Amino acid sequence: PYVIAEPCVGVKDKSCVAVCPVDCIHGGDDDNQLFIDPSECIDCGLCEPECPVDAIFMDDEVPEKWSSFIQLNADYYKK
Ligand code: SF4
Ligand code: F3S
Repeated sequence: PYVIAEPCVGVKDKSCVAVCPVDCIHGGDDDNQLFIDPSECIDCGLCEPECPVDAIFMDDEVPEKWSSFIQLNADYYKK
């Protein structure tokens, strides 16, 4: 699945939400970023170019320094 990483923190532009065909990008008002549900994402890639701060990556292309965000996205949906 695709993953939202550190650049989204404090930005939450939400352009990604508008283009996701399966509505799998969410985050509460108390969260400082949004997260992609790995069990719902269909890997369409539509969200990636929409993000103005380049926060979205395919999970195997997440920069090493942000690798922890793969688990953070998944954990959000375990609540
Ligand atoms: Fe949604 Fe497609 Fe982005 Fe996955 S890759 S979060 S399905 S827009
Ligand atoms: Fe965040 Fe970019 Fe979406 S800033 S909310 S990942 S468009």
